Amino acid sequence: MKILGIETSCDETAAAVIEDGANILSNIVASQVDIHARYGGIVPEVASRQHLLTVLPVVESAMTEAGVVWQDIAAIAVTIGPGLAGSLLVGVNVAKAVALAQGLPLIGINHLEGHIYANWIGNTKPVFPCLCLIVSGGHSDLVLMTGHGEFKKLGQTRDDAAGEAFDKGARILGLGYPGGPAVEAAAQKGIPSLPLPRAWLKGSDDFSFSGLKTALLHLVQARDFSDSSLVADAAASFQQAIVDVLVTKTLEAAGRSGVRQILLAGGVAANKALGDYFTRHSSVPVLIPPPDLCTDNAAMIAACGYYHFQSGQVDGYDIDVIPSLSLG
Ligand code: KG4
Ligand code: ZN
Repeated sequence: MKILGIETSCDETAAAVIEDGANILSNIVASQVDIHARYGGIVPEVASRQHLLTVLPVVESAMTEAGVVWQDIAAIAVTIGPGLAGSLLVGVNVAKAVALAQGLPLIGINHLEGHIYANWIGNTKPVFPCLCLIVSGGHSDLVLMTGHGEFKKLGQTRDDAAGEAFDKGARILGLGYPGGPAVEAAAQKGIPSLPLPRAWLKGSDDFSFSGLKTALLHLVQARDFSDSSLVADAAASFQQAIVDVLVTKTLEAAGRSGVRQILLAGGVAANKALGDYFTRHSSVPVLIPPPDLCTDNAAMIAACGYYHFQSGQVDGYDIDVIPSLSLG
């Protein structure tokens, strides 16, 4: 069964065709990162206009590369939230128009649930119950998953998301945008030797990263950061502080909830130091999608759509975007 996925929640215009929820027939991502880099962050108005220009060619490429025609497609899955309203609207309206014109079922997908389903793509088969750590530009959520579509949120960020922390930290260190890959690259040349705090928030599964960001700022203001080895050490120390908190708190929650696996999801899950630290410290198997399925893509939306469709969850042609949608 082939599903077309469409994703436009933030700054990537993406479309993919997935077979049986696992096999990638095509996975097209048109990134706007170069356009937003000159502003040092995403400009929502620019993002939605760019989606408008790119979405139809991206959908056509996904169909062509998969070697399919509309008659081969069983349903269209599209991200309805969370995300930028203007960006979400572009994908949802294209999905509606095509579904209506071709008489195809339409499935609205929660972007965060989509991130989790990147773990079902390929040969990996997650087992329930599992604990999902979703770490992206807007979220740091710990979610217990007991079955397909069954989620209970255990914790979330109280201020900055993990990806947001990487982006702000990169800006403080003058490493550019997007911050996560920039901090990771700089950290490889440094040692995590500088003292930076960790917010443990004992007794809670919530996260907090804004204090860490402020501590980094104070460090930069107090020292001579024209020295590139100091920047590398600061990047390594900053990354290690985030990784330490994410791994320690996730493993605590995993031990308490008796899960059989831990699933990583979202752009920050592409961070190799995070994956390595998890694998070294966890006694529970940890699944991590390949980097291009951690960051925003439509393959994960189509994979998630497959499981919705299998359980008969189809939406009407009147679905709308929900920019503040949450999970569990
Ligand atoms: O999931 P995603 O692509 O988009 C959202 O749904 O937000 O996540 C984007 C976030 C950005 O904050 C970016 O800096 C971060 O993921 N990110 C990383 C890495 N690659 C992307 N953070 C740390 N290390 C990386 N390698
Ligand atoms: Zn995302």
